Amino acid sequence: MNVVIETKGLKKTYGKKSSAFHALKGIDLKIYEGESVAIVGKSGSGKSTLMHLLALLDTPTSGKVYIDGKNTTDMSNKQLNSLRSDRFGFVFQQFFMNPNDTVYENVMLPLKIAKTKYSERRKKVENALKIVDLSSKAKNKATDLSGGQKQRVCIARAIVNNPEIIFADEPTGNLDSATGDKITDLLFDLNHNHGVTLVLVTHDEDLAKLCNRIIRIADGKIIDDYAVKKSEQTSAEKRHEKVAAEVKAKNEEKKK
Ligand SMILES: Nc1ncnc2c1ncn2[C@@H]1O[C@H](COP(=O)(O)OP(=O)(O)OP(=O)(O)O)[C@@H](O)[C@H]1O
Ligand SMILES: [Mg+2]
Repeated sequence: MNVVIETKGLKKTYGKKSSAFHALKGIDLKIYEGESVAIVGKSGSGKSTLMHLLALLDTPTSGKVYIDGKNTTDMSNKQLNSLRSDRFGFVFQQFFMNPNDTVYENVMLPLKIAKTKYSERRKKVENALKIVDLSSKAKNKATDLSGGQKQRVCIARAIVNNPEIIFADEPTGNLDSATGDKITDLLFDLNHNHGVTLVLVTHDEDLAKLCNRIIRIADGKIIDDYAVKKSEQTSAEKRHEKVAAEVKAKNEEKKK
């Protein structure tokens, strides 16, 4: 299998001198094409920091990130931007949408950045909105959507340019379990059926176990990195059953 991302001795320190905080203390890892990788760990352990470095959205204090064997520290901003816009998709909660733009405009943004031909844009946006089941909201302003719908716009924006790698930081955080489940299905469908490499950060152990591999970090270091055994893997069916039971219980509670 091809290695798509490799890091060597990756460190990130925030702040300086007495206020310096070592968020990552030397991360060495390889991510292979077509894998689904969950990065798990306690709050503050460095998951988002690692994700930002892997996705080339931030630069390390020391160490290197290689994409397809190419050292990204040698690349110009222009090269980095085009690498990101051509090959990566992001589902990050801090990447807010432009609230006054329509859903359509928000989803189109990556195509604008990637300078996709005008003639191809509409079809791509419509297709992405269809996948997340939001075609009917294309003309609505992003502010007028529910939380789960906003999250789905973020997914549409992440997939609109057919990325090879999707980075998702807590993609189902803040969502009710049924909507979260829809988003999970979507991401794993892209992984299973379209060869998209999936790197996700999650607190949800069941979600992590849907991945082939779990990387556990604590205190800025990898403390565990293992393949999820088939027998331990949460099947989509099992997850659906669990979610359905939760929804039913909630509905019954409402009735009381
Ligand atoms: N810009 C920053 N300046 C200073 N410290 C920071 C900065 N960003 C993150 N940190 C610190 O680095 C550590 C790792 O942060 P990070 O966001 O990677 O954690 P996380 O594992 O994603 O946590 P969570 O699960 O809560 O999202 C934390 O202790 C955090 O306070
Ligand atoms: Mg985080």
